[in-house]
Formats: sequence, C-alpha cells, structure tokens
Amino acid sequence: MAILIGDIAPDFEAETTEGHIRFHDYIDGHWAVLFSHPKNFTPVCTTELGATAKLKPEFDKRDVKVLGLSVDKLENHAGWSKDIEETQGVALNFPLISDATGDIARKYEMIHPNADNSMTVRSVFVIGPDKKIKLKLEYPASTGRNFDEIIRVIDSLQLTAKYQVATPVNWKNGEDVIIVPAVSNEDAKEKFPGGWKEIKPYLRIVPQPRA
Ligand code: BEZ
Repeated sequence: MAILIGDIAPDFEAETTEGHIRFHDYIDGHWAVLFSHPKNFTPVCTTELGATAKLKPEFDKRDVKVLGLSVDKLENHAGWSKDIEETQGVALNFPLISDATGDIARKYEMIHPNADNSMTVRSVFVIGPDKKIKLKLEYPASTGRNFDEIIRVIDSLQLTAKYQVATPVNWKNGEDVIIVPAVSNEDAKEKFPGGWKEIKPYLRIVPQPRA
C-alpha cells in the first residue's frame, strides 16, 4: 500500500554505520529525513552524500535527524565512506542504513521495478516529531537531488507546524508567508497582532514569524 503524506512512517530495525537502530525510537520527538540512494560506489550518490554531510549543521539547527539508506552491505558502507571523504572533502557524519535484503526499501516503496529491480530510486521522506510523513519526493537514479531544497521545505514545514502559516511559490526563508485558510480572521488577530495584508479573503500575507 502506498505511503502517503499524513501516514505514520513505517517502523523498522536496521544496521547502520552508527549501530543498530529502531527507527521510531531513533527519531522520537525529532524531525527526520530518510533518503535512499541507488547504490554504493556510484558517482551521483557520492556527491549527494558529501553534500548532505556538509549540510549537517543546518539539519542540526532544525532538530532534524538525517538517515541515508542503500540496498548494500554494511561492510561496503565503510569502504565507500572513505571515498566520500577523499573526493567530497567531508566525512560521513550521519547514519547510513544497510538494507541488504531490500526489506526497508520495499516497505517505503523505494524500489520501482520498472526503473530497476534491485536498486532504489532517489526517495526522500521528511517525517515530523509525530512520526507522520510530511513530504515525499522521488527522483530517478540519474538525477542528483537538491538538498538545499530539502532544507527549504523543512523550513516551510516547521513554520506551518509552529505558526499555522503556509509558504507561497518559490518562497525562501525570510520572505513573507500566507495565513492558512483554516485560521479564521478572528483567530488571526490573536496570532498575528501586527496584522496582515488581505489580497483576497483567502490570500492573507504576513511577514515570516520568528521564533
Ligand atoms: C549514481 O549514483 O551515479 C548512479 C547510480 C545509479 C544509476 C545511475 C547513476
């Protein structure tokens, strides 16, 4: 059955480069990003894991635990980690799941048989502290993802969770946001005492709230 936004992220146990985990215990009360990469010792994946390691401070700032996954053996992860450090200038600093049986990948529908029978596509799941799926993305193996975009989406998701605001097209952190339709004008007066710009009754713009 498809995993949809709003569903509880399926739990699993796994061996990772940082030890054994039970996913739900591991992410308990934190945000998480679970992403698959098709195969160890492949060029695009090497660049993606380097970029993710460089962004670790940004994920930490947002209380996000990052986990990579590939359908490869744990001992292969160690050798590949050395290559990532050598070629990308940064060591792996987040757990990489070894899903050699493909069980977790199948649970999360990361294997698309008409693309490839054993390798995963490039899936991304952002999971909230309530363990629910907040976002899912799928890219083909040949296209590296934009991890700055993943950070941007997390900023949007966290603003929605905290302030009941949504973010408009091409929004960037710091720009104006939109009051979600579920908030009545009466409630908005309390939540946004500085007021808002009403372009239409359903399109109410406010400066981005700050923590
Ligand atoms: C890569 O990471 O470079 C890659 C992996 C699988 C298929 C194509 C590219």
